[in-house]
Amino acid sequence: MADSTTSAQPDTSSSDTYDLGALTVHRIGFGAMQLPGRGVMGPPRDRDAAVAVLRRAVELGVDHIDTAQFYGPDVANELIREALHPYPEGLALVSKVGARRDAKGGWPPAQLPAELREDVHANLRSLGVEQLAAVNLRITDPVPHYTPPPLEDQLAEMLAMQDEGLIAGIGLSSVTLEQLDTALGQMDIVCVQNAYSILDRTHEELLQRCVAEEIAFVPFFPLGSAFPGMPKVADQPQVKAVAERHGATPAQVGLAWLLQHAPNVLLIPGTSSVTHLEENLGTAGVTLSAEDLAELDTIS
Ligand SMILES: NC(=O)c1ccc[n+]([C@@H]2O[C@H](COP(=O)([O-])OP(=O)(O)OC[C@H]3O[C@@H](n4cnc5c(N)ncnc54)[C@H](OP(=O)(O)O)[C@@H]3O)[C@@H](O)[C@H]2O)c1
Repeated sequence: MADSTTSAQPDTSSSDTYDLGALTVHRIGFGAMQLPGRGVMGPPRDRDAAVAVLRRAVELGVDHIDTAQFYGPDVANELIREALHPYPEGLALVSKVGARRDAKGGWPPAQLPAELREDVHANLRSLGVEQLAAVNLRITDPVPHYTPPPLEDQLAEMLAMQDEGLIAGIGLSSVTLEQLDTALGQMDIVCVQNAYSILDRTHEELLQRCVAEEIAFVPFFPLGSAFPGMPKVADQPQVKAVAERHGATPAQVGLAWLLQHAPNVLLIPGTSSVTHLEENLGTAGVTLSAEDLAELDTIS
C-alpha cells in the first residue's frame, strides 16, 4: 500500500519516450496479459476483438508490447503474431521467463537455466522473430518444496542468450534492490518490471535506483490488476475527484500519476478493450498539478 513518499516532483510527462536498451519507445505501451481467456488461461472470449486491440494499439503509436509465453499459455503470443506479423520496424516485443502454467492455472516457477532457455526459444518461435527486444528474468516468491537455482546461474544463462543474439536486452522482474545490484555487477540491465502503482509503492526505493541508473522501470499492475480482490486504482475517491476536475477518467489519472512520478516509467496497462486502450493512450494529454499530486498522496 502507499507509503508516506511524496509525489511533489517535477512534471516529467512532457517527455514521451524513454530508452529500452537500444530502442527508444513511447512511454505508453501495452501489456498483453488481459488478452487470453479468464485467469489468463485459454483462448479469448472474442478472438477478433483481441486482435483488434493489438492492431489499434500499434495504429495509435504503441511500440512496446509486454507479453509472456505463459500467458494463455501460448495464447497471447499467438494473438500478437496473428495481429501484427510482419512487425512494424521499431516495435519492441518484450517477454519474460521464469514461470510456467499448470493444469489448474497456477504459475509455478521454472527458473532452471535450461527452462529459461527453452522459454526464450518458445517465445521466439511463437512470435516469429529471431530476437526479442528484451526478456525479463522473473524471480518468483518463495514456493514450498522449490529451491530455485542460484541467481548468478540464471543471470549467466540470460547473458549467454544475449551473447548468442536471442535477446537484445536483459530485464528483471519481481526483484529486490539486492538482486538488481547483483545483476548490475554482472551485466547491463535495460528494464525492471515490478508491481507498482499509486496504490502500491512498496518498490519505491527500487524505482528510484532505476532512475539513478537510467534503467526503464515498467510497473506491472499499474491500475491494480484484473485479479479479483485486489484494490483498483480507479475506485479510489481521490482518483475519482482528480479525474472529475480534469474531465479525465480515473484510469487516466492513475496512469498520469505514474508518468509524472519518474521519467523512466514505461507504462504497459493491460486491457482487452479498444475503448480502454484508447483511453489509456489518451493519458498523455493529462497533466496533474501540484494540488492533484498532493491529494493523490493521501491515498493509503
Ligand atoms: N512481470 C510480471 O510478473 C507481471 C505480472 C502481472 C502483469 N504483468 C504485465 O503487466 C501488464 C499490466 O498489468 P495487468 O494487466 O495485470 O493489470 P493492470 O494493467 O493494472 O489492470 C488491468 C485491468 O484494468 C482494466 N483496465 C484497463 N484499462 C482500463 C481503463 N481505461 N478503464 C478501466 N479499466 C481498465 C482491465 O480490464 P479491461 O480488459 O476490461 O480493460 C483489467 O481488468 C500485464 O498486461 C502484463 O503484460 C507482468
